[in-house]
Amino acid sequence: MNKDKLLFEKSTRGSRTLRLGKLDVPPADLSALPAGSLRQKAPMLPEIGELDLVRHYVLLSKKNISITDSFYPLGSCTMKYNPLTNEAIVQNPGLADLHPAEDDGRVQGALRIMKTLADGLAAITGLPGVTLHPAAGAQGELTALLVAHAHFHASGQSQRTKVLIPDSAHGTNPASAVIAGLEAVEIKSGEDGLVDLEDLSSKLGEDTAVLMITNPSTLGLFETNIAKISEMVHAAGGLVYMDGANLNAIMGIARPADFGVDMMHINLHKTFSTPHGGGGPGAGPICVTEALESYLPSPRVVEEENGLRLDYDSPRSIGMLRGWAGNFGVLARAYSYMRRLGAEGIRRVAENAVLNANYLRTQLSDAYHVPYDRMCMHEFVCNNRKQREHGIHALDVAKRLIDLGYHPMTIYFPLVVSEAMMIEPTETESKATLDAFIADMLLIADEAKNNPEKLHAAPVTTPVGRLDEARAVKQPVLRYASSS
Ligand SMILES: Cc1ncc(COP(=O)(O)O)c(C=O)c1O
Repeated sequence: MNKDKLLFEKSTRGSRTLRLGKLDVPPADLSALPAGSLRQKAPMLPEIGELDLVRHYVLLSKKNISITDSFYPLGSCTMKYNPLTNEAIVQNPGLADLHPAEDDGRVQGALRIMKTLADGLAAITGLPGVTLHPAAGAQGELTALLVAHAHFHASGQSQRTKVLIPDSAHGTNPASAVIAGLEAVEIKSGEDGLVDLEDLSSKLGEDTAVLMITNPSTLGLFETNIAKISEMVHAAGGLVYMDGANLNAIMGIARPADFGVDMMHINLHKTFSTPHGGGGPGAGPICVTEALESYLPSPRVVEEENGLRLDYDSPRSIGMLRGWAGNFGVLARAYSYMRRLGAEGIRRVAENAVLNANYLRTQLSDAYHVPYDRMCMHEFVCNNRKQREHGIHALDVAKRLIDLGYHPMTIYFPLVVSEAMMIEPTETESKATLDAFIADMLLIADEAKNNPEKLHAAPVTTPVGRLDEARAVKQPVLRYASSS
C-alpha cells in the first residue's frame, strides 16, 4: 500500500493514534487550522491526455544528460555504475511497500538487509559501530561531529571545540562543523597537495576536537602521511574523522581504522551505487570505533536470540537526526551491490577506478597542466594553464564537452587549484570509452589553440546556451502556478 495513503488514513481516522516508531502522533485536527489556510475550492489541475503527458516528460528527459546517455566524468561525485537489477530489487513490494512503523517481527527481511549492510561496512572500514541513519554524506559529517562532541562532553573535555579541516576539503566539512556548534579551522596543503604537517602541528592543542580529513583527498591524492597525522591528532587528545566520499578508491585495499581513523561517513549513493543526480536520494552511514558507538543515533538494528529488532533504548545516544532508521531504498541498493560483488569484487572496483583515472591522467597531461602529476587515486585535477594564453577558461572546456555529448567534469573545485578541472572516470568505463574521451579532450586542446571562438561560443547544441548563473542565484525569478 502507498505509504502516504497509509499515513493519511491512520492520522485522519479520528479515533486512532498513529505510532511512528517510539512517537505517538495524535490524529490530525483540521479544525485547529486558521480558515484562511484551508483550501476553499478544488485545485485547477491541467487536464491532458496520457500520451501528451508521456511525450512532455520524455521530451524533457531527452534534454537532460545522464550516465545512461554518455560518459560522465564529474569529479568528486562518483557518477558510477547503477545496476538496473538494484532497481528491480528495491521496487519489490516486499521492500518498497513496507511502512517504517511496521512491527519488527513482520519486517525481519528488511532488518536483515540493514544488519548485513552495516556488518559489511564495518568490515570494509575496520570500524565496528555503524549507524545507517544519516540521509547524505553531509548529514553523516554532522552526525559524527555531534557524536564527538557528546564523547568530549561526557569525558569532561567540553573545551574541545575546534575542527581542523584541510584547505582542499569539500565545502560540507566546514559547514557541518559550524552547524554542530564547533569552530572550523583551516589547515594548509603543502606544495605536494598533502596536509602540511607543520601547519597541522601548530594548530593542534587542548581545544582540538576533531581533524576532518578526506582520504583520498579531493585532489585525488592518497594522504601518504595519514598514519603519522592520526598519531599527531591522537597525541593531542583529538579524534580523526575521515570524509569517506572517496572510499571507492581504497575499499577492500586499505581499512581506514588501520591508519588511525576513529569515525567516518560513507556516501552509499556514490560508492555503493544509487543514481544520485539532481541532489538525491542519498544515504551517509557513519562507522565509528567501539569507544564512540554508544553515542550513535538511534534506532539501530540489534540481533537477539529471537530475531532482529530496532533498538531505541540507547541512553547516551545523540538522538535522531531524521525520521526512522535510514533511507531504506538506498540501503537496499547498497546491500544488493555489495552482496553481488563480494569482497573480491569490491577490491576490483577500487583497482579499476584507480587504473582508469591514471590512464586518463597520463594521456591528457601533455595537453592539460596537471598540478600534482603523479600516481592519482580514482580522480585527478588538471587546469587551464596551457590554454590560458588563448583566453580559454575551465568553463570554456566544460561547455565544449557538452557539444561533444558529455556531461562536463567538475570545474572550479577544489579551490586550492586555480581553474580546476576535476576528472573522475569511475571503474566501469571501458577502454574504448576512455579513448574516445581522450580524443575529444585533445581535440578541445587543439581548438583552444587554433579556434578559441568555438570554445567561447559553446554550447551550441543545447536548448539554451550559457546562463548567467551568478545572476540567477542573486536575482532569482521565482514563480509558482496559481491554483485559482
Ligand atoms: C569529498 C566530499 N565530501 C562530502 C560530500 C557531501 O556528500 P553529500 O552530497 O552526500 O551530502 C561530497 C559530495 O559530493 C564530497 O565529494
